[in-house]
Amino acid sequence: MKNDFRQAFHLEPLNGWINDPNGLCWFNGRYHVYCQYSPGSADGSSKRGWGHFQSRDLTSWEFTGTVLFADTPDDADGVFSGSGIVKDDTLYLFYTGNVEHEGDYDYTTAGREANTILVTTKDGVTMSEKKVLLRNSDYPDYCCCHVRDPKVWEQDGKFLMVLGARTVDDKGCVLFYSSHDLENWEFDKKVSKADLGYMWECPDLIRTGASEFLSISPQGAAHGQYQFQNVYSSGYLALNTGIYTEWDCGFDFYAPQTFTAPDKRRIIIGWMGIGDIPYYNPTVKLGWQHCLTVPCEVTLGDDGKLRRNPITELERLVTDRTALVGAGGEIELPFDLSASAEGESFELNFSDAVQMKFESGVFTLRFLDDAVGCGRNARRARLDRCSRLRVLADKTSLEIFLNDGEKVLSTRFYPDSTVVRISSRGLHCEAARLRAMEVEHLGK
Ligand code: FRU
Repeated sequence: MKNDFRQAFHLEPLNGWINDPNGLCWFNGRYHVYCQYSPGSADGSSKRGWGHFQSRDLTSWEFTGTVLFADTPDDADGVFSGSGIVKDDTLYLFYTGNVEHEGDYDYTTAGREANTILVTTKDGVTMSEKKVLLRNSDYPDYCCCHVRDPKVWEQDGKFLMVLGARTVDDKGCVLFYSSHDLENWEFDKKVSKADLGYMWECPDLIRTGASEFLSISPQGAAHGQYQFQNVYSSGYLALNTGIYTEWDCGFDFYAPQTFTAPDKRRIIIGWMGIGDIPYYNPTVKLGWQHCLTVPCEVTLGDDGKLRRNPITELERLVTDRTALVGAGGEIELPFDLSASAEGESFELNFSDAVQMKFESGVFTLRFLDDAVGCGRNARRARLDRCSRLRVLADKTSLEIFLNDGEKVLSTRFYPDSTVVRISSRGLHCEAARLRAMEVEHLGK
C-alpha cells in the first residue's frame, strides 16, 4: 500500500510542527502529554505554545489542541519547554516564557528574556493566570540569557527544580533550585562537566535506588564516530561518577522527559527529532512535521547504566502475532519485530533501503536508499555483544532496541510503500502486526 506517512502509534500533529514533550504526568485518572507545538507552520517557524494529548491507557488518546499560548509580555515569543507536578487536586505547570526584544542583539548575551512561569490547572486543559517566578536577573550572574526548561519534582519533603543553562563563557550547565511552596525558589547549586557543549537543554533528574542521573540535551559537544554523531546530543550524567551516556545512537532523538506512572514505573518520552538537522522530513510539504517517541520504561541495568524499553501497553496494539517468523518475508507497517542472534554477527535488511548490521562490536544502521533516509546516512553504536534486537517500525519511524534497551537507535524513515521486504542473516526473527492507536482530535 502507498505510504501516506501518517504515524500509526506515535503522537504527532495533524498540522504544523511539534518538538519536546512537556509536562508529562498522571493526573485526574489520565496520562497527560503536553508538547511544544506550532500548528501554524510545519517548519517550526511560528511561535511555540503547548499542545496537549491525554489518555487513560497510553494507547488511545485525545488531542485537545493548544492549551498554553504565547499571549503575555512575559512569554510573547514562545511558551517554551517545561514540566508538571501534581499537588492535591491541582496540576502545577512550569515553563519558560521566551521573549526576544526588537533591536540589534545577539540574543545570547543580550536581547532575550527567559522567564520561569507557573500556571495551574484542575482539568489539564483550562489554565489559571500565569505567574512569573524567576527572571534573568534572578539567575546566577555567570549565566547568559539562555536559561530554560524547568523540571520540577518532590524529594525529601521539598520541591526541587532544574533549569538548563549556558554560561557567559559558553559552558552548558544545570541550575538546581528548591522550594517549599512551588512559588518561591532558592538557588542551590550548579552542575556542569568539562567539554560537554556550550548549552544544556531540557534537564531532568532520575533517581533509582542510590543512583542519581541528570538527563540533559547538550548542544555543541565535539562530534565522534560512535558518540555525538548528531548535531545535538541527549544523554544522562551519572552524578556519582560524572560519566555521560547518550540516550540514543540514531538520527532522531532529543529533549526527552520522564515521569512516574501510578504503578511507579519511570516512563520516558523523547522528541523523535532534533533542531537544525542536516537531513529532512518530507512531511513538511504535506503540512506537518515530527512526532514523539513511544513511551519507554527506564530501568537500571547491572552495569549501572539505564535501559530504555517500550512500555508493555503497546502489546494491546498487536493484531497478528505470527505475521513473520523466520529469516525473511513481507510484512506491512506498522509492526514490532523481535530477533535473537544466532552467532557473533548478523544483518537485517528492510526492502534494500535500510540495513541494520552487527559486526566486530559495532552495530550500524545505514540507509541504502536516500529517498527513504532523506539525507540520513549511517549511525553506529558500540556493544561488546549483541544477542537481541527489537525494531518498532511505524509508517515513518524505526526505534531499534539492542540487548533489551542497552543501546537504542531512533530514526525517521520514509518508504514509499507500507509493505516491507525483510531479509536477514544470523537472526531468528518474529514480528507482530500492530494496529493504529486511536487519536481523537478535539482541538487545534
Ligand atoms: C529543545 C528546545 C528547548 C526549548 C524548546 C523550544 O528542543 O530548544 O530548550 O524550550 O526547544 O521549542
